[in-house]
Amino acid sequence: MTTYRLDAGAQTLALAVTTGLPEVVYWGARLPDTENLDAIASASLNDLTGGMIDALPALSLTPEAGRAFQGQPGLVLSDVNGTPLLPAFQIDHVDAASNHLCFISRADGLTQTHNIRASESGILTLQTEITSDTPIRIQWLAAPALPAPQRSDEMIDVSGKWIREFALNHVAWTPGIRMRESRTGRSGHEHPPYLILPESGCTNTQGTAYALHYGWSGGHRMVAEELPDGRRQVQFGHASGAETEPGTHFQTAPLYAVFSTTGLNGIGTAFQRHMREDVVQWVEPAKPRPVHYNCWEAVYFNHTLAGLTALADKAADLGAERFVLDDGWFGHRDNDLTSLGDWTIDPNKWPGGLHPLITHVHKLGMSFGLWFEPEMVNPDSDLFRAHPDWMLGPRDQTPGRHQMVLNLALPDVQDTLFNQISAILTEYPIDYIKWDHNRLLPLVDAAQTRGVYALLKRLRAAHPGVELESCASGGGRIDAGILAYTHRVWLSDSNDALERLRIQHDAALFLPVAITGSHVGPRKSHTSGRILSMSFRAHVAAQRHMGFEMDLNELTEDEATTLKSVTAWWKDNRHWTMTADILRLDAADPAVTAEMLLAADGSRFILTAGQSETSIQILPRPLRLTGLDPAARYKITLKNPEDAARQSRGPNALKTAPLTLSGQYLMTQGISLPAQWPATIFIVEGTRL
Ligand code: GLA
Repeated sequence: MTTYRLDAGAQTLALAVTTGLPEVVYWGARLPDTENLDAIASASLNDLTGGMIDALPALSLTPEAGRAFQGQPGLVLSDVNGTPLLPAFQIDHVDAASNHLCFISRADGLTQTHNIRASESGILTLQTEITSDTPIRIQWLAAPALPAPQRSDEMIDVSGKWIREFALNHVAWTPGIRMRESRTGRSGHEHPPYLILPESGCTNTQGTAYALHYGWSGGHRMVAEELPDGRRQVQFGHASGAETEPGTHFQTAPLYAVFSTTGLNGIGTAFQRHMREDVVQWVEPAKPRPVHYNCWEAVYFNHTLAGLTALADKAADLGAERFVLDDGWFGHRDNDLTSLGDWTIDPNKWPGGLHPLITHVHKLGMSFGLWFEPEMVNPDSDLFRAHPDWMLGPRDQTPGRHQMVLNLALPDVQDTLFNQISAILTEYPIDYIKWDHNRLLPLVDAAQTRGVYALLKRLRAAHPGVELESCASGGGRIDAGILAYTHRVWLSDSNDALERLRIQHDAALFLPVAITGSHVGPRKSHTSGRILSMSFRAHVAAQRHMGFEMDLNELTEDEATTLKSVTAWWKDNRHWTMTADILRLDAADPAVTAEMLLAADGSRFILTAGQSETSIQILPRPLRLTGLDPAARYKITLKNPEDAARQSRGPNALKTAPLTLSGQYLMTQGISLPAQWPATIFIVEGTRL
């Protein structure tokens, strides 16, 4: 037996290899450097008893049906004719470095490679690859399977829908399988590829937890299984059957794994840093993130030069730095029935092209962004009429939002889209694309996703100065796969700040401030009908990458003043908030959603406390902070005491002056805020003295 270990941040992964595939013998808190791994491997050996075969089938990196593994196997394959194959792999050799392990195994003309990398940011990246001497069919290939914790009562996975993304599900472990599969051709609103396995007693701020994220945009399958013998495993891979053709080479997407000893916040901060520092390839890392203005909820398809230049004037005056022209500028796109696929400027709306608008926007000091939905086609389009065979899926399929999907695996489709988009980017000084994807695919096909990635890669190489936003009816495609080519996500089509408060708080378990788009929406929300104050709307957008998306003509003078001042405040702070950790607090009051943005050097923080409904008790419960230095002293200031409830009439200290308190006090007793109405948010600024 040979043993190996990888250390990444707070975690150690230890593996043992005898003759078959490697097995994880330990995954958890970082072990001492002197730990004897052979002893760990021996200590991990299980007993046998009644109701079992005479040896325990290994829960290896790819559990094998060919070795009588009685749970879900990590590999299901057949020959080209569909005859199932049951290989039993033997280890061939191991390439080991301090931050990388590569295990190569062979069986019956097949080679299986398990790659595991440890990154500085504390993440383990795991990937499985299969090559074959002759063509085979793959039904299911899991990224390396990992053991799930025994001392855990539940898993937290993520579900959602349009305008209600990133809802956390708490699901009890029971014998059998919890399976989630996204068969919509996107990572999806429904089952985004994230899983947290908290150990008993874990909260936002304390305890231990494991988490996994499958970095793939094309639909995935997750299997969390408790075997009859009590062992638990988790597997992630492409949705089953996503490889539709026989082949000799198959590969999973990277699976990202993290272990935390600092509660769910250890998971959140590791993923946030990983996405921000390792996954996203920034165009100009040092350049401040610009305040966006997106015109969608202001004008929809109704584009006029006069109307949009007037909006641009107002947006710039309020502090916007990037103007994004959304859907409606191409083909004959007066509604969503037509023109996807025809990426040329609509001459009726834009007789002089986009130049007059872009010139105006640039004169105002803003940069210019443009909306595309390249993977889609309307049957009512020149592209579709010319190439009906470029459509993905059956001819008689049901459309979605009146549109079909282009088959991105076809080189002609990729070339045409590249040429159309590239022509626009060459003719116009555009530095931003909002890349949308508004329908569920008619089938699952990994080649489609590879095609999208290839197109994005080619466009990024040809136009390296252009940033991209990943949108899919809001947050339908948010994963590390797409973020390798994009720089911002449109988290949700809900600009209702009350909904956003919750959505972005839960998404912070995976997504950092700098890539999470959040816009100040209309006074009366277009997706909920709620009417919310400007202070609330603006401060919620200011929790992440801020923007505006509304008809700015509706603003009263008071609203404009508030929006302008919150925007200026956001800009004053972005030099540190864009790299801050988002730390979720354990609010004692379930009506309060509280979090901190803590500067990377710990020198300052912003605490936000959003009241989503009326509290059960009369007085606010103190909010315990986290992540501070207990011995340090912090000056804390309530930024917006004017947002206290009209009935607030007591001597709450923060209403009138800053306080100076120790980190210990703030993390043990906490901050007492004034009484709050629902749909208000307090902002507390903290500076370490
Ligand atoms: C999707 C997006 C919106 C907007 C519209 C345009 O719904 O999520 O933000 O861009 O498309 O049609």
